[in-house]
Amino acid sequence: MHCISSICDRAYGKRIPACQTLKLEEHVLSPPNIEHYSVMLREVLDWLNLQAGQRVLDCTLGGAGHSLEMLKAVGSQGFLWAIERDPQTLERARIKLESLGYPFQLIPSNFAELAFLAEQYGISELDAVLLDLGTSLFQLKEPERGFSFLNEGPLDMRMNPQEPVPTAADLVNHLSEAELTRIFQVYGEERMARPIARALVATRGKTPFVTTIDLAQAVEKVMPRRGQKLHPATRVFQALRIAVNGELDALERVLPVAVKLLKPGGRLAVIAFHSLEDRPVKLFMRKLATDCLCPPRQPICTCQHRAQLRLLTRAVKPSEAEVLENSPSRSARLRVAEKL
Ligand SMILES: C[S@@+](CC[C@H](N)C(=O)[O-])C[C@H]1O[C@@H](n2cnc3c(N)ncnc32)[C@H](O)[C@@H]1O
Repeated sequence: MHCISSICDRAYGKRIPACQTLKLEEHVLSPPNIEHYSVMLREVLDWLNLQAGQRVLDCTLGGAGHSLEMLKAVGSQGFLWAIERDPQTLERARIKLESLGYPFQLIPSNFAELAFLAEQYGISELDAVLLDLGTSLFQLKEPERGFSFLNEGPLDMRMNPQEPVPTAADLVNHLSEAELTRIFQVYGEERMARPIARALVATRGKTPFVTTIDLAQAVEKVMPRRGQKLHPATRVFQALRIAVNGELDALERVLPVAVKLLKPGGRLAVIAFHSLEDRPVKLFMRKLATDCLCPPRQPICTCQHRAQLRLLTRAVKPSEAEVLENSPSRSARLRVAEKL
């Protein structure tokens, strides 16, 4: 992980101007008409078991579907903080939440900075924390954001387009074949990582990658579609998005802070969409739900590790009805734990 962050730093020095064409204001003023769907909304609310007057934090505001219901549940005597890294998304959500007239605070930031944000915004003694990981439909469907191989747009993929981090174009145009291979292997679990990286390096030698379609077509040349449902570029796009946004690092940083901010009996709920995210969540929760981490054969505990969480669920899956209604929800997994 560390390795790939430093790869991004190196690529950043060589940004190509074509990736920086997004005009933020236009999108804030005229949001596209995209229907929003909050994954496992009912399950999240049931497991969080919110009561009027409680203090809650949504680390991934998105379209505010979960936040809105959380705010309704805690009501006028409670308080909701909600973090969102994407400024366009945050402004859209503000309108939705304001309609309730209950107290809340939106925080335009990366949840990786939660320790610092908690001090800055007075977040403490929480009854619930929610993380609904990944991108929103707004981001995926807006071609200008460059997240999707289905729409032509600049190869950007930054969740916050104002953040000075390397774009996906920076990575594919400037990283070495070995570095790209590693990104596709680690963040995309892509079996064809090496041939794809080799082909991309050969292609960019003639013409640099500028758009999402350029990249999708180059991957498709290495792995022709042959009737599969999954587009051959799916894993490459996922890998680049995770690398551009440092998603796994952010997750690793936020989890311990979230637990610290919960009061006893407070609940942490995390929705992950692939095993790269779900695995660290599962391992983190399990570790914090364990009293002693000494090797099993050691007769006396010397580690002094004491459980801080009680696991309330294993991986909760969306209902069949939800998957029928919103097929991307099929890979979602919800895990919930309670602070001791
Ligand atoms: C799956 S969507 C959340 C949808 C939301 N629960 C709803 O009901 O509308 C994930 C959101 O989290 C945001 N996000 C992802 N990583 C983030 C991070 N590290 N810090 C802050 N926001 C993040 C994304 O920009 C996106 O809007």
